Amino acid sequence: MPESMARIAAGNEPCALRWIDAPGGHGHLGVLDQTLLPGRVAWRDCRDVPAVIEAIRSLRVRGAPAIGIAGAYGLVVAAGEAWRDGLSAASARAHVLARGEELASARPTAVNLRWAVERALAAISPLPDEAPADVIAAALLDEARRIHDEDRRLCEAIGRHGADLLPEGGILTHCNTGALATGGDGTALAAITTAWRDGRRIEVFADETRPLFQGSRLTAWELTQRGIPVTVLVDSAAGHLLASGRVAACIVGADRITAAGDVANKIGTYALAVLARAHGVPFYVAAPSSTFDLRIDSGADIPIEERTAAEVLAPLGVPAAPEGARAFNPAFDVTPAHLVTALVTERGVIRPVSREGIAQCLGRI
Ligand code: MRU
Repeated sequence: MPESMARIAAGNEPCALRWIDAPGGHGHLGVLDQTLLPGRVAWRDCRDVPAVIEAIRSLRVRGAPAIGIAGAYGLVVAAGEAWRDGLSAASARAHVLARGEELASARPTAVNLRWAVERALAAISPLPDEAPADVIAAALLDEARRIHDEDRRLCEAIGRHGADLLPEGGILTHCNTGALATGGDGTALAAITTAWRDGRRIEVFADETRPLFQGSRLTAWELTQRGIPVTVLVDSAAGHLLASGRVAACIVGADRITAAGDVANKIGTYALAVLARAHGVPFYVAAPSSTFDLRIDSGADIPIEERTAAEVLAPLGVPAAPEGARAFNPAFDVTPAHLVTALVTERGVIRPVSREGIAQCLGRI
């Protein structure tokens, strides 16, 4: 197999992570190491919480829903640590809670991570104080699996709603929002692949997504694995492409959506939304309800992760700037609600985007 494009085994769909079971619920988390794609398909075993956190921070596993699921399985790994170390029931629970905080804060922008960790922790609160580590582990594993399974179903529903919304013609997406970013087939990318499977005449364009190339390395890889043609463009070509009239719609994912509909997503999303508006092209955002943070109103209150200068100055490890140059490397930006044509959730489409529409769709009205 040439290193330039690794393929997964025939019949297997791309997939970001899996739980590898061991007796007593003391298995470990396996993540497909996305930093190696598209050159190599290699799984990485995370047998302790520092390994899970390292995988999340280094983007071996990435994408808002996928890091949430990784965080939930990370708690099972934490309970496994307590069991291996022979901790008492009280110490085991305290250990899991402390590890939960470390996991939840591994990356700050995607709300799915803290959401999933808190949900999994809530599943152990009804357990009696004397519940030992293996009982805690079993309860956490049940909940992590539930979160994972639910995400598969949410992706399917989002894919269906999104596909029904997409027009035929050019569809431009940014970053990676597919199977590699979720527990199922994806969000925005699921809309695209569903429309394709429906036989709709669409042409997929993927921004390469600097500086970590999730668009060219991951989205193009996923689409190619599925036999869907894709055209990759440098991020700065998006304006020219939109001006050419070849794009009928843009669709992207989200890391956090506020109660008012402001959207945090991969850096470059905001610029794309402004360009789409300037050219009269609809700009859709697809995300599950776990990506909404209704405690926050304004996008200005979303914490934006800043990553290392090396990612910008030496992309993919190749120096691209002189020594001594500094870098500005926000991993995400915020697109204000008024630039978003519609939000696509598993519960339906919110259009126009408004606080009331969001509350109604998420069942808060
Ligand atoms: O830094 P990343 O690769 O984790 O960023 C991912 C994105 O910005 C995705 O668009 C978002 O998480 C949605 S994934 C369904």
